[in-house]
This record gives sequence, structure tokens and C-alpha cells, in this order.
Amino acid sequence: MSYKQTKCWNVDNFFSGGENLTWIKEAALWITKGEVVAFPTETVYGLGANALDEQAVKKIFEAKGRPSDNPLIVHIAEQHQLTDLVTDIPEVAHTLMKHFWPGPLTIILEKKDTVAPSVTAGLDTVAVRIPDHPVARALLQEANVPVAAPSANLSGKPSPTSAMHVYHDLKGRIAGILDGGQTGVGVESTVLDCSKPTPILYRPGGVTKEEIEALIGPVHLDPSLHSENAAPLSPGMKYTHYSPTGTLYLVEDQTKIASLIKRAREEGKRVGVLTTTENEHKYEADVIVACGSRENLASIASGLYESLRMFDEKEADIIFSEVFPYEHLGIAIMNRLEKAATMNELGEDFPCS
Ligand code: TXA
Ligand code: MG
Repeated sequence: MSYKQTKCWNVDNFFSGGENLTWIKEAALWITKGEVVAFPTETVYGLGANALDEQAVKKIFEAKGRPSDNPLIVHIAEQHQLTDLVTDIPEVAHTLMKHFWPGPLTIILEKKDTVAPSVTAGLDTVAVRIPDHPVARALLQEANVPVAAPSANLSGKPSPTSAMHVYHDLKGRIAGILDGGQTGVGVESTVLDCSKPTPILYRPGGVTKEEIEALIGPVHLDPSLHSENAAPLSPGMKYTHYSPTGTLYLVEDQTKIASLIKRAREEGKRVGVLTTTENEHKYEADVIVACGSRENLASIASGLYESLRMFDEKEADIIFSEVFPYEHLGIAIMNRLEKAATMNELGEDFPCS
């Protein structure tokens, strides 16, 4: 499906009232009529459609070019809406919702048949969350239906953290975009399967494993998160994601980055470096992007996707990235970087780690 125009509603100053609510109501009406509309959440922008309307949900897959075996997250405004979507809510899920909702935790539960089949890609379970963003909450309240929404990027590209990113990827492919400015967390929600006796963490994200375990005790990790050879249990985790067009390499030893840059430039390549405010002065490359500060992993998460997109904008052929500690938000940051990167290091041409 193509649209002559993708409408952009500016709702950045939502709390100042006035026209903003009118626009959110218009976007909500479009959703209830079966259209797809992008909206900001606290993590990244989502591409929303009525989760109970199979035809509307199919438009999401079409607009993104998303493989049909990759299920979507359903967004709701209030916890009581869960009763229309799931058969059973175990005690552990109640505890997690009470503590982390609204917020960047997606919980997987046994689904009811009311959910459009494409949403769950044929699985018996459905992923649900309440986002913590005033525009998202108002949209969900006004639409008064559960809204299925993946990240609002073209499949394979970094998730959008601004309306400009959505427009860049999806203009002419979707009906409209609610522009609520930059998102905050910057990486997607944590995905936790609570339909199993011990919850399984499928995707690290905005709520950390440490925070979850402090509340409910140990959870299992999807084997693919700690072993390269294991197949992921969650369909979406098997796809390459978040990739800039240039080849991205993760370099553990920061002292090697300068010589890697020099060598690639000698070969005539346009070289990018993904670094931090602490280190940016150390490099001489064509595109130097500091995504945040090492002192504050939240700032790295928040700037990560914008930074990855910057290398495309500035046409870097090859990108060397620093790495981050595998703890707290660092787990989500490294998970996204590893998916974006060409793995198995640089080979003989670029011995680096
Ligand atoms: O922060 C976020 O989660 C954003 C915003 C828009 O809410 N959404 C997002 O959606 O990242 P998406 O579609 O890009 O990622 C959803 C992930 C995929 O990896 C998918 O495979 C997994 O959740 N998922 C959804 N339903 C599932 C299910 N029933 N079982 C296993 N994995 C599921
Ligand atoms: Mg996504």
C-alpha cells in the first residue's frame, strides 16, 4: 500500500494542551478505522495498528517489509485491557506489572483468540506492554483498542528514536506520524516470557535483568544471548537488525582503533568511529560519533540508534565501534551492537582483538 502523503502531527509539547489533543484524537480515529500510524514511546517510535483487526495488522508487515513469522508487541493503556488478550496472568506477571508498568518491560503470556493471528505469527502466546509516554498513553486511551506496534523502522534498520527517522524510512508507506520529539530510553523494551514456569528473558532492554531478578528472583536467559551457536527462542531475535550500510566492527581493545582507522583510510575507505564523549578526541576519522558518556550507560542507550543512522547519513564505508560492559543497560547496548556488527572480528586483514 502506498500513500500520496504521510501526515505528520507535531505533538512535542503535548502537556501544553490545545491542538495537540485534537491531533492525537485524529490519529486514534485513523487507527480505529484500520490505518497504521507511528507514535512515540519512551523506548523508540512504534508503528501502530488495531491489534484486533487482521487487515490493519497486515499493513504493518507490508509497510516495514517485516517477515511474517516475527510477532508484534501489543500496547495497552490500562492493565484491565489484558483480560481481552490473555487467558491467564501468573502471580509473577502481576508482580512485574505492578512494579515496571508503565515502562519498558514487555511480558509474554498465553493469548486469547481475539488477538489478530498475524500479531502473534501463529504462536499461542502474545507479548504485551503499557508504554510510559504521555503521547502513547493518550493515543491508546483515545483509540480504546489494544494497539500492535513494532518499532517504526524499515525491517533491518536501526529503530527510530525521532519522528525524522520514521519519516526517512516509511514516508509514503504509512498514513501518519505523531511527532513527540526524541524518545528517552533509546533501546527497545525488555522482552520476558512469563508463560513458562520460570520466566525467560528473550531480549535485553530498558528494564535490566538485574532489576527484574531483584524483584522476582533468577530468570532464564534465552540461550542465544550467551552462545553464538544457539537458535533464539523468540522469532525476532534471529534477524540481523539495526545495521548501518557501512560494515561495522566491534573492537574490544580501544588502543587498536587508531591504527585500524589509519589502515582503512590508506585503503581509500571512508572511516567512521562509534565512540564516547570521553574518547572522541583520540581519533582521526572521517565520521566520529560520540553516542554518549561511559559514565552513564543510559546516555549511550539513548544516543545509540541516532548514532548508527549518522554513519549512513555521512556515508561511512567502514565503522569501528568501542564496546561496553555486559551489565545493566550495557547488556542491551551490546546485544544491539552485536546484531548490527559483522561478527567474528576483522579477519586477517584487520587483526584487532
Ligand atoms: O520498545 C519496544 O518494545 C518497541 C516499542 C515500539 O514498544 N517495540 C518493539 O517491537 O521493539 P519489535 O516488533 O521491534 O520487537 C518485538 C520483539 C521481537 O523480537 C519479537 O520476536 C518478540 O518481541 N515477540 C513478540 N511477541 C512474541 C511472542 N509471542 N513470543 C516470543 N517473542 C515475541
Ligand atoms: Mg524492531
